[in-house]
Amino acid sequence: MTRCAFPKILYGGDYNPEQFPKEIWDEDMRLFRLAGIDTATINVFSWSLNQPDEETYCFDWLDELMNKLHDSGMRACLGTGTAAHPAWMARKYPDVLTVTYDGKKRKYGRRHNSCPNSPTFRRYAGQMASKLAERYKDHPALLLWHVNNEIGIRCYCDNCERAFREWLKQRYGTLEQLNQAWYTRFWGHTFYDWEEIVLPSALSEGLQNSNSDQTAFQGITLDYYRFNSDSWLECYLIEYRAIKEIIPDAVVTTNFQGNGTYKPLDYFKWAPHLDIVALDIYPENHTPESYMAFRYDLMRGLKDGAPFLLMEQSPSVINWKAVNPLKRPGVMRLRSYQAVARGAESVMFFQLRRSLGAYEKFHGAVIDHAGHEHTRVFRECAELGQELQRLGSGLLGARTESRVGLLFDWENWWAVELGGGPSVHLKYLDQMQKYYDAFYELRIPVDFIHEGTELGRYDLVVAPLLYMAKPGLARKLEQFVQGGGTFVTTFFSGIADEHDRVVPGGYPGELRRLLGIWVEEIDALFPDRRNRIVVKQPFGLLDGSYECRLACEIVHPEGAETIAVFGEDFYRGSPALTRHRYGQGEAWYAATEPDRRFLGQWLQALCEAKGIRPLCAAPPGVEVAERAKDGAIYTFVLNHSDAAQKIHIGDDIRQELLSGGTVSGEIELAPKGVMILKHNRALAQA
Ligand code: GLA
Ligand code: ZN
Repeated sequence: MTRCAFPKILYGGDYNPEQFPKEIWDEDMRLFRLAGIDTATINVFSWSLNQPDEETYCFDWLDELMNKLHDSGMRACLGTGTAAHPAWMARKYPDVLTVTYDGKKRKYGRRHNSCPNSPTFRRYAGQMASKLAERYKDHPALLLWHVNNEIGIRCYCDNCERAFREWLKQRYGTLEQLNQAWYTRFWGHTFYDWEEIVLPSALSEGLQNSNSDQTAFQGITLDYYRFNSDSWLECYLIEYRAIKEIIPDAVVTTNFQGNGTYKPLDYFKWAPHLDIVALDIYPENHTPESYMAFRYDLMRGLKDGAPFLLMEQSPSVINWKAVNPLKRPGVMRLRSYQAVARGAESVMFFQLRRSLGAYEKFHGAVIDHAGHEHTRVFRECAELGQELQRLGSGLLGARTESRVGLLFDWENWWAVELGGGPSVHLKYLDQMQKYYDAFYELRIPVDFIHEGTELGRYDLVVAPLLYMAKPGLARKLEQFVQGGGTFVTTFFSGIADEHDRVVPGGYPGELRRLLGIWVEEIDALFPDRRNRIVVKQPFGLLDGSYECRLACEIVHPEGAETIAVFGEDFYRGSPALTRHRYGQGEAWYAATEPDRRFLGQWLQALCEAKGIRPLCAAPPGVEVAERAKDGAIYTFVLNHSDAAQKIHIGDDIRQELLSGGTVSGEIELAPKGVMILKHNRALAQA
């Protein structure tokens, strides 16, 4: 794994000069310099240009571009360009074309259009990565590598089907094991030959529609999802290895999509193979700030707290929603610092110059169709660019410290939503976001963790909707709690094993001993229905009555205390919140989806009990986040609101890095204002 050492927070983004006459390139370099732009992501969609036919490769334009970047003092994030195959390839080798969930064989078109198990795609993508590495290995402009682009469509073609069978043979060894795992005695599905197995598409097991991901056989679909994620990982690794073979210390990454919560790819499984995690983020104007904060924290969690790259965001509009309003003045800067506050070491855009044709011609860009610097968007970008230059390298490598771990798991996410559960409205990300938001509002930093994370460094581990408890996890959580940790989980947890087979003997399965409860039944509530939670044993501010929704479970304590009960329906008076003292620690269970006020007060009390303190008090709309490095603490204060806001930062004098001045006591933030306060740890602890 290569360690990344950048000279400063990278600033720039996707640059597609191959769409423009060469005369414009020099003008672009002038504008980049003006805007403080130092990094260009290039060659992302240039496969057909670089390889006009099977035997011919020509990189003249790219040589020229690399040289020009270098002459202008810029660095390249070099794309391998394999996210859109050339038309000739599709014509000559139809195996590169995908088959959709509905079973349609696609024709040449769009992008992100290759089958991950196409031998042609794999061969030529690998060759392209080698050619590029060979050509640019000593080029001074080369900074890092960007493999493919937003990888990860699902394909249902015959090659994928054959590869799936091989993958299953590796996983299960025998058909007996597979039949067991998939529970195939149900609906007479016993398989006697590997060739009988087909992909779970709409033509076979799939029941997917626009609001649900359901399938008739969860075990099969779950394995297909794992297989598809692995197939793409292999494709990525073909290019990764091709590059590393020629440039062993190359920094290689790919841009994660779906704002970092892209369902088809298990990014926890991918992250170890990236030298640095990178993500694209495209919130709407009205997207809550905590939505982005969640995704940035998740990206940081993927590699155990390591910083990541913000590879793409729009400097202004996006163009692919039904309605695409402008990003308001100041918002691009504010949201850029939000990413940096949570671990980003770059601020990059899609795109640097706006296309003149095709699908993205109205997508925001640093340089607009007007072609000059006298635009609002350019001015805002240039101001930020200069600010980032002044910030220098101080923040690079700074880490976030947290005593709360939030367990996130792609396979669990898939399983929860593959169907047959209490309600199609039960969505994994919604539940995760609700718990995340409570900590966000409390200004308590969290780390996203996975089942392999060493839990000893956390005081509080929260695992909302831990439906699938993988082998060994319950034991690990028991040890954590025995040792004094506090564990929190929710309704619909511990139900299934890693094949999505129900654990017999009562819910929550293997978590039953730790939680000290037995869940007898699960009631689903229609979206407009509510129940109430009534607190019996006040805990911190948690007292009185609250609303709850979505699902209510009928819980029998088996050693746990009942802290709160349901207020309505035939299970009125039965436990809604329980606490089980176990070893030196406690395991808590919320048998429903509580309202925001309940979550805030409950989690606050849990943090207080553990001595976990908020970063600093701030009014609603003001986000606070911290990074630390070399004895210095950097506190980011971000005013997302449209009004000026005051906060009290204590009496110590701190440096404010953006203005270059010092501050203490009460400070005022302008609407959309940002401050980065630096102070040393010794002072902070005094
Ligand atoms: C994605 C892609 C880019 C571009 C942007 C537009 O993130 O990676 O190539 O299409 O979307 O928002
Ligand atoms: Zn395929």
